[in-house]
Amino acid sequence: MAVEVRFLPDDVTVMATAGEPLLQVARRAGVVIPTGCLIGACYACVVDWESAATPEPETVQACLASIPAGVPYVTVHLYCDPAW
Ligand code: FES
Repeated sequence: MAVEVRFLPDDVTVMATAGEPLLQVARRAGVVIPTGCLIGACYACVVDWESAATPEPETVQACLASIPAGVPYVTVHLYCDPAW
């Protein structure tokens, strides 16, 4: 099942498949999510996301996250952290 992934604040929307790595979806959308270690240790890639399964924003490390199954959409909120 295709999942609509919307990146805010730039409001860029692309279609993805369940299980697809979030960083891969972002790259395809032309959205840059800052990264560092790519193994879940540095937290450079932290974003908030929400979907029908998690209506309240949930903080995730984008390098470890993949598009969940069974939801029609995911909204990703990118941080703009000047410290990184
Ligand atoms: S890139 Fe380091 S935690 Fe994701």
